[in-house]
Amino acid sequence: MIKPSVFVTRRWPAAVEAKLAENYNLYLNTGDKPLSPGEIRETLKRYDAVLPTVTDTLNAEALDAPGAQTRILGNYGVGYSHICAASARNLGLTVTNTPDVLSECTADIAMTLLLMVARRAGEGERELRAGGWTGWRPTHLIGTKVSGKTLGIIGYGRIGQEMARRAHHGFGMDIVVYNRSKIAPEVLAQCNATQVDTIDDLLPQSDFVSLHCPGGAENRHLINSRRLDLMRPGAFLINTARGEVIDEFALIQALQYELIGGAALDVFDGEPRISPGLLQCDNLVMLPHLGSATREAREAMGFRVLDNLDDFFHGRDPRDRVI
Ligand code: DGY
Repeated sequence: MIKPSVFVTRRWPAAVEAKLAENYNLYLNTGDKPLSPGEIRETLKRYDAVLPTVTDTLNAEALDAPGAQTRILGNYGVGYSHICAASARNLGLTVTNTPDVLSECTADIAMTLLLMVARRAGEGERELRAGGWTGWRPTHLIGTKVSGKTLGIIGYGRIGQEMARRAHHGFGMDIVVYNRSKIAPEVLAQCNATQVDTIDDLLPQSDFVSLHCPGGAENRHLINSRRLDLMRPGAFLINTARGEVIDEFALIQALQYELIGGAALDVFDGEPRISPGLLQCDNLVMLPHLGSATREAREAMGFRVLDNLDDFFHGRDPRDRVI
């Protein structure tokens, strides 16, 4: 059989690119630069499969490619809110993602951020590197104790549950959960978690709030100024989900006026552009979208895309089909 042609929009770990090259006619974006909507459209006309990722905007304009040769978008990543579902359906595209394999590493980064913001680790490192540390003193950079506090988790899928496991079993935290659908009692019991009916119920009870819901239009600005007001004074907001879930303007206000204790973000609205106001906030920790950035997770994500492609081109329904 002629090998299907596959276009990869960014560079992937070498081991995965090598395996892809064995099974497919592989075309790489060797410059590793994000493609424009027009360039995405061109790839859809030429290749049997396109393998995009979170930095590609596959909106209605990019997917306006009638008669496209592409039949499958094998997304490298679990989130796929950068792909316009209606346009993908219109083109008859199958879309897959890469769940499970990055859940632990993403929860590790969420926990890293939680600890960093509570214990003022970012501020401490900045002070030390700037040569401003004058030595130990009883009142220096006093943070907030994490152990035994209450963590509110918004979105109790695989990553949310991994976060709960770390927080509850590692740090003795009480877990409160908001999720659109009902969580099975045995799943909640694993971390002695309580599910509440609304986000508004969760916020006033939580010392820390960690976001693990999908992005996209339905969750845009889920955390807005009204909801930031519902948080406890001194509470911390952690986001490893998608930037658009938080109204960044409202967050900047809440941080500047110290309406909440602080925030820690791995994702940003319109990233890699960073709202200038965020850079002024000392009670904010920021990482450049590192959730899944371990060798293990990034290779596993690539091999998961390969599994999905192999299923598709052998006539099986891919295990991670989302559209
Ligand atoms: C995803 O998988 O959606 C991440 O944001 C990139 O790991």
